[in-house]
Amino acid sequence: MYRIVKKEKMNEAVNKFVIEAPLIARKRKPGQFIILRLHEKGERIPITIADSDIEKGTITIYVQKIGKTTYEFGSFKEGDYILDVSGPLGNPTPIEKKGNIYCIAGGVGAAEIYPIAKAYKEEGNNVYVIIGARNKELVIMEKEFKSFADGVYITTDDGSYGRKGFVSDELLEHINNRKIDEVIAVGPAIMMKVISELTLKYKIPTLCSLNAIMIDGTGMCGVCRVEVDGITKYACVDGPEFDAHKVNFDLLMKRLKSYLDEERISLEQYKHMIGERR
Ligand SMILES: Cc1cc2nc3c(=O)[nH]c(=O)nc-3n(C[C@H](O)[C@H](O)[C@H](O)COP(=O)(O)OP(=O)(O)OC[C@H]3O[C@@H](n4cnc5c(N)ncnc54)[C@H](O)[C@@H]3O)c2cc1C
Ligand code: FES
Repeated sequence: MYRIVKKEKMNEAVNKFVIEAPLIARKRKPGQFIILRLHEKGERIPITIADSDIEKGTITIYVQKIGKTTYEFGSFKEGDYILDVSGPLGNPTPIEKKGNIYCIAGGVGAAEIYPIAKAYKEEGNNVYVIIGARNKELVIMEKEFKSFADGVYITTDDGSYGRKGFVSDELLEHINNRKIDEVIAVGPAIMMKVISELTLKYKIPTLCSLNAIMIDGTGMCGVCRVEVDGITKYACVDGPEFDAHKVNFDLLMKRLKSYLDEERISLEQYKHMIGERR
C-alpha cells in the first residue's frame, strides 16, 4: 500500500500527488513512469514520475482527470492509500550535453517533461520550454520551469495567456532565430505529430514520449505497440521515448481511440454511482 502524503489541486483538471514510495524514489530517472492501481477493482494506468525526494522517500506525480480512473483518483485525499505502484518503468531519457534544447509540452505533458528539462539543464544545456494549453487556467508548472530554464513561453488556444495559438507557432519563431540542437515533445499525439512534421522540415533531431495505452508495462501484453521506422515496438519497454520523425502517429492516434465507447460508458457509470452516493 502506498500512502498519499500530499495532494494539491493545480486546476480543475489536474491534481499533484506526493506518494510514499522510497524504492522508486531512489531508482527513478527522468523520462520514467509508474503504473498504479488504485484498489483491487481498479485498472492499471501509467503516470510519469515528475519528481522525487530520496530523503523523504516520496515521488511526485501530476494526474489529469480524463476518464474513470483518473476521476476516481481525483477523489483520493491526503492520508489515503493506493493499492499498487509499480516502477520505475520505461527507459530513462538519454541526457547528454547537446546545446540548445527545446522542451515542448501540451497540457499535463508539462509535468511529464519537467524532470527531463531539469536534467538537460543540469547536464549543461541551454533549455527553453514551450507550454501549450487550452486556456490560462490549464497552464501548469510555469513557476517551476522558470526557476531553472533559459526561457519559458506559453501558448493558449484561446489567447487568455501568452501567445494565442499552438506550441508549433511559437517553436517556428524560435527556429527562425536560433540554432536548435534537439526538440523533445510530450503531450497529445496530435501535438507531437505537428511538432515532428515541423522539425523534420528543418532537420532538427526530435524525441517524443508516446502515450500509448498500457496495461502491464513490462512488454508482455502487447497493448502498447507502436510503429517506429516501420517496425513494431512496445512503448513500455522500448520507449516511451522515440525518434519522433520515425513514429507512425496516425496509427498511434487510431489505437488510442480503440475503446472510446467503453471509456465513455465507464465514466458515466462512475459519475452516476458517485452522484447516487451523495
Ligand atoms: C508513459 C505514459 C505516461 C503518462 N503520464 C501521465 C501523467 O504524468 N499524467 C497524466 O495525467 N496522464 C499520464 N498518462 C496518461 C494516462 O495514463 C491516461 O490519461 C489514463 O490512463 C486515463 O485513464 P482513465 O481511466 O482516467 O481514462 P479512460 O477513459 O480509460 O481513457 C481516456 C484516454 O486515456 C488513454 N488511456 C486510457 N487507458 C490508458 C492506459 N491504461 N494507458 C495509457 N493511456 C490510457 C486513452 O487515450 C483514452 O482514450 C501517461 C500515459 C503514458 C503511456
Ligand atoms: S504495456 Fe503491455 S507490452 Fe507494453
